[in-house]
Amino acid sequence: MVLYSHFLVIYLLFLSSVVSQVTEFISIDCGSTSNYTDPSTGLAWISDIGIMNNGKSVKVENPSGNWMQYRTRRDLPIDNKKYCYNLITKERRRYLVRATFQYGSLGSEASYPKFQLYLDATLWSTVTVLDASRVYAKEMIIRAPSDSIDVCICCAVTGSPFISTLELRPLNLSMYATDFEDNFFLKVAARVNFGALTKDALRYPDDPYDRIWDSDLDRRPNFVVGAASGTVRINTTKNIETRTREYPPVKVMQTAVVGTEGVLSYRLNLEDFPANARAFAYFAEIQDLGPSETRKFKLEQPYFADYSNAVVNIAENANGSYTLYEPSYMNVTLNFVLSFSFVKTRDSTLGPLLNAIEISKYQKIAAKTEWQDVMVLEALRSISDESERTNDRGDPCVPVPWEWVTCSTTTPPRITKIALSGKNLKGEIPPELKNMEALTELWLDGNFLTGPLPDMSRLIDLRIVHLENNELTGSLPSYMGSLPNLQELHIENNSFVGEIPPALLTGKVIFKYDNNPKLHKESRRRMRFKLILGTSIGVLAILLVLFLCSLIVLRKLRRKISNQKSYEKADSLRTSTKPSNTAYSIARGGHFMDEGVAYFIPLPELEEATNNFCKKIGKGSFGSVYYGKMKDGKEVAVKIMADSCSHRTQQFVTEVALLSRIHHRNLVPLIGYCEEEHQRILVYEYMHNGTLRDRLHGSVNQKPLDWLTRLQIAHDAAKDFCRP
Ligand SMILES: *[C@@H]1O[C@H](CO)[C@@H](O)[C@H](O)[C@H]1NC(C)=O
Ligand SMILES: *[C@@H]1O[C@H](CO)[C@@H](O)[C@H](O)[C@H]1NC(C)=O
Ligand SMILES: *[C@@H]1O[C@H](CO)[C@@H](O)[C@H](O)[C@H]1NC(C)=O
Ligand SMILES: *[C@@H]1O[C@H](CO)[C@@H](O)[C@H](O)[C@H]1NC(C)=O
Ligand SMILES: *[C@@H]1O[C@H](CO)[C@@H](O)[C@H](O)[C@H]1NC(C)=O
Ligand SMILES: *[C@@H]1O[C@H](CO)[C@@H](O)[C@H](O)[C@H]1NC(C)=O
Repeated sequence: MVLYSHFLVIYLLFLSSVVSQVTEFISIDCGSTSNYTDPSTGLAWISDIGIMNNGKSVKVENPSGNWMQYRTRRDLPIDNKKYCYNLITKERRRYLVRATFQYGSLGSEASYPKFQLYLDATLWSTVTVLDASRVYAKEMIIRAPSDSIDVCICCAVTGSPFISTLELRPLNLSMYATDFEDNFFLKVAARVNFGALTKDALRYPDDPYDRIWDSDLDRRPNFVVGAASGTVRINTTKNIETRTREYPPVKVMQTAVVGTEGVLSYRLNLEDFPANARAFAYFAEIQDLGPSETRKFKLEQPYFADYSNAVVNIAENANGSYTLYEPSYMNVTLNFVLSFSFVKTRDSTLGPLLNAIEISKYQKIAAKTEWQDVMVLEALRSISDESERTNDRGDPCVPVPWEWVTCSTTTPPRITKIALSGKNLKGEIPPELKNMEALTELWLDGNFLTGPLPDMSRLIDLRIVHLENNELTGSLPSYMGSLPNLQELHIENNSFVGEIPPALLTGKVIFKYDNNPKLHKESRRRMRFKLILGTSIGVLAILLVLFLCSLIVLRKLRRKISNQKSYEKADSLRTSTKPSNTAYSIARGGHFMDEGVAYFIPLPELEEATNNFCKKIGKGSFGSVYYGKMKDGKEVAVKIMADSCSHRTQQFVTEVALLSRIHHRNLVPLIGYCEEEHQRILVYEYMHNGTLRDRLHGSVNQKPLDWLTRLQIAHDAAKDFCRP
């Protein structure tokens, strides 16, 4: 009675776990037009109408078996797009994902389909239909990487890609855990029930997790062949304790094969191998052994040093008969053709026994598109038309990119181009755009986008930006002008405001900004301020250089002069601020000064020389000219400037500098200047070849070139300097 109630409790527990498991099953009958419950399993199947909007429902010709879910299939368009089913998952929970394919007899089609199946960005399988009546089942055991997965079909080689069913089966938390699940899915290559009672595969409800256990009686090419002689099939109706690790179904464990002649050997092909695999062997002693009987054996082939020397004694290893013993191999490398054999040890009385095996390939999880880029695409989708959104399924880049994006070939892939011209987008450009560092082209023109530009300062690869014909506002940030690779920026017909960053107007970037009424170029005043600032800095730099040069020159000079006897004289002259005869003469003929450099002559000295400007010898627009005689007897012409151009000291100085350096046969040499009390005076050499009168009025044999003309020429030359 105690035992009975114990079993009852176990049975109820088992039942409740099964029930809770089933409610979480997702079973999609692709191509079906209605939802239904399969009476043979009690499983609820839903139509994929509303889940998959592409392709068409096709009635399968001559389906094999009576499975309701194989009466129809969904044929998907033959093009270069991908078609994806999105399945909701719990992140980090383990699932069995299964896609099945039964094509049925060929109708008018020329050939059976061949295409690719993806789970997220990971290539899952190449589906090749060779047998119309066979159900090709592809299973992947995953730990969900996020809150949903995408199963995608694409890349048809021949025929029309299609799918019959898509199933999601949650697993118990600890089932199929591996050391590598962060980076690898487990792609099921073989799951075989040995000693099966029929050739039908065993699955739900016999397996509460709805795994498909193929029968070893199933005769199909390259599947479980070459049983050794003496192999017998055994079965039991007794319960088997299987509640450890992978929870193989009791029904699978109730049958087995035994190598009565001491050897069990089989051969089968593993799709996509050689590869690293996770391998399980399921053993349960289902024969009642006599007291003198023992069953001990070893895995002889394939030979793995770590495993093959271990002796299997099922009842001992499992601590009892009718109890699961499940040795597994976390990471073994297997060939495409898996030949395996168990051989009894010498001291064993019975041959080896095997209930089931399961082999899965480690499938490297391929990187999905950088999530920050995906976030922007999702945000853009959310502000676009409903009708435009439906075709964008699965990963934006892998295996084939969405129509409106271009991707890099990096790992993970990044979005390099967004092309959404004229797609009826309404709202703001997603601010997350700031993280799309790989973006080179952005086409959002011809929409109804509003609000300011998002921060694009980090999008340094950006080359072409089309934002014209929107309702964008705000200012153009100055970094827009310094994006290093920007070639084109189109913002016509928007409502941008403020100043255009000057760098956009240099011609380096094709910049189109018509019809932004409140957008203007930088104001003149600011530009001039900047120009002046720039020039001033330039001038300062030049002055600094000149100053340093002159320091060097002066030092050299001083050294040179100190070597000469004339040191004292020259030094006193050079440092003297008082103009004097000697200063004048040295200025005119000194060997260490540039010839023609004019000198400052104080006003009192000029007043004295000209006798208080009493003798006017000419007058012009520039002012009057007076005759004078310096202390040393030199005759001079003194011009008092009246020109407004010369008002500013700077310009006056410039003119002096210019005139003092011009050597022209028609020009009178400038010998000095005076600038005092708003008076600006130039002192020229008085002409001695011929009197002034001669020059002014002309002589018989010389073209008259008057003094005033000469001064005018000089003055005009100087005036060029004054012009802004
Ligand atoms: C999952 O496995 C644990 C033991 O690891 C067991 O206690 C639990 O009942 C199992 N749950 C289901 C739903 O099978
Ligand atoms: C099938 O069931 C799903 C979910 O239970 C529902 O969304 C869908 O509308 C149903 N489809 C039909 C054709 O009844
Ligand atoms: C199950 O085993 C019994 C012997 O224990 C045998 O008579 C019977 O034929 C077996 N059934 C099948 C389907 O192999
Ligand atoms: C398995 O073992 C091989 C070599 O022993 C190692 O390279 C590999 O990373 C391991 N894991 C997987 C999942 O392949
Ligand atoms: C093996 O089973 C016996 C009872 O059949 C039990 O007493 C013993 O603790 C078990 N040993 C282990 C290691 O589970
Ligand atoms: C801006 O709008 C005007 C009229 O609305 C249109 O003619 C012009 O082509 C638009 N500019 C661009 C660049 O599309």
